[in-house]
Amino acid sequence: MGHIEHLTSLFDLANKAVADIGAGSGVFSAQLMREGARVSAIEIDSDKVEMAKAKLSSAAAVLEGRAEDLPLADGSQDLLCFFFSFHHIPHEVHAEALQEASRVLKPGGRLHVVEPFPYGSMFDVVRMVEDETEVRTRSHALLSSLAEEGEAFNLIDKTDYTLTRSYPTFQDFLEQIVRVDPARNCIFENNRIAIEDQFDRALDCSTGGHFLHQPCAAYHFSVI
Ligand SMILES: C[S@@+](CC[C@H](N)C(=O)[O-])C[C@H]1O[C@@H](n2cnc3c(N)ncnc32)[C@H](O)[C@@H]1O
Repeated sequence: MGHIEHLTSLFDLANKAVADIGAGSGVFSAQLMREGARVSAIEIDSDKVEMAKAKLSSAAAVLEGRAEDLPLADGSQDLLCFFFSFHHIPHEVHAEALQEASRVLKPGGRLHVVEPFPYGSMFDVVRMVEDETEVRTRSHALLSSLAEEGEAFNLIDKTDYTLTRSYPTFQDFLEQIVRVDPARNCIFENNRIAIEDQFDRALDCSTGGHFLHQPCAAYHFSVI
């Protein structure tokens, strides 16, 4: 199962105004565009903004900005997506980020948040350069309580699935996950052998590929 495959089972993207928050280099923004969405890719990191601009066609609005202060007009979006980015927002401003989501969504608009769990073969390797146990746990707790409160958002669907990514070599993993972040790279340099060893042990080669698996949950809300 992929993020966009799951999302399209819940929401028709054709001709919809969709904001991809914490878009990174724009991998999922590109997939949203392929489904016919009119995409705004919002990213806090200026280097990634440049990467997303290079990747995406000029039809996408690629904007430097933050979830807690979105560069989007009131009531302008049909759907807001957070793919593995919600737990990166500082906990102190999560409430602001949710208020911003309410502000920019049209009446009845959707909020789609996919968050990784703190387990799985991908997590087992990544935790050696950055342990996200606490932030991921806290993020799932917040989204679950948002669903229970039912004040600003109504939970339409919650689905658990596993995202699988292919890393043909350890070098591919390093370039995509470690080198992009100076802090992770520094930790890697001090613990190279153990991290490569963990990568080799975690890698799933059972079907002839080279895969790491990341279990996650997708929370799909409508704004009240
Ligand atoms: C794990 S990456 C996910 C990137 C992309 N969504 C994907 O799944 O490939 C998390 C992204 O969130 C961005 N980010 C962190 N804090 C943010 C904030 N407050 N507002 C917007 N983006 C943020 C990071 O710079 C990073 O690109």
